[in-house]
Amino acid sequence: MHIPVLLKETIEYLDIKENGNYIDCTLNGGGHTKEILKRTKGKVLGIEIDKEIFEKIKNENIERLVPVNDNYANLKNIVKENNFNNICGILLDVGMSSYHIDQSKRGFSFQKNEPLLMNYSSKLTAEEIINNYSEKDLEKILKEYGEEKFARKISIQIIKDRPIKTTFQLIEIIKKATPSFYHKNRTHFATRTFQALRIEANKELENLEKVLPQALELLKKGGTLVAISFHSLEDRIIKNFFKNHLKEVKLLTKKPILPDEKEIQSNPRARSAKLRAIKKL
Ligand SMILES: C[S@@+](CC[C@H](N)C(=O)[O-])C[C@H]1O[C@@H](n2cnc3c(N)ncnc32)[C@H](O)[C@@H]1O
Repeated sequence: MHIPVLLKETIEYLDIKENGNYIDCTLNGGGHTKEILKRTKGKVLGIEIDKEIFEKIKNENIERLVPVNDNYANLKNIVKENNFNNICGILLDVGMSSYHIDQSKRGFSFQKNEPLLMNYSSKLTAEEIINNYSEKDLEKILKEYGEEKFARKISIQIIKDRPIKTTFQLIEIIKKATPSFYHKNRTHFATRTFQALRIEANKELENLEKVLPQALELLKKGGTLVAISFHSLEDRIIKNFFKNHLKEVKLLTKKPILPDEKEIQSNPRARSAKLRAIKKL
């Protein structure tokens, strides 16, 4: 089960109004949404891109939840189609969920031997990226989206050893391409490559760039936008967007809010989470 990250802080920054409507752009199992619904008599529009996850939460038939299976990059259209208004707060808790790692069987985890899909809903899969992209393009995504310092070596090895079908095959290739000290790091040596492939397959950074201006436009005055991210590339996009709109918003978090030790201990996934929030003026 996915444990909601920074739940108390999210609720605090959303500053839930008794009759307000809210948007959860990353619904998943509704961890945050259920807490929002407890505090408002209004509705929550919950968007989830992954069909399997969406079906599960839809079948829970949660009262006052309007579930939508779509990409949050289409936020304005989704809101229009659902006649959703009086939007007092919007939440973004980006990236993958525990479901993707533990249950999806789509190759998100380097601890399981699975087909290399890594897609939430996109047609593009990690397998297609690995087996079809040029060496230069592979190196670029590993560098840019994975911040992988051995991007060049890994890309060269991928080209040599492809076709590559499974996570374990890919992990062996990364191992072959990188020095042995890299295999002893606390962070698994495949982490950055996996992150890069996931971001590319799902166009995650583009989607985030697209949703932020729409969210700000849709919020009513005094409404808040809370964004939780899990790596520096996402956090940078959020931070810069907030900084570039200081005439329209009040920054509620000068520095990002991080989970405390207790939360990290009970939910290791929270370790890299950062929360930033703004209020629309
Ligand atoms: C970190 S989880 C959210 C967890 C949720 N806040 C909770 O506590 O239950 C992120 C969710 O967003 C979904 N997602 C990722 N990209 C999306 C997108 N572009 N549009 C809509 N949902 C997306 C993922 O499938 C995943 O279920």
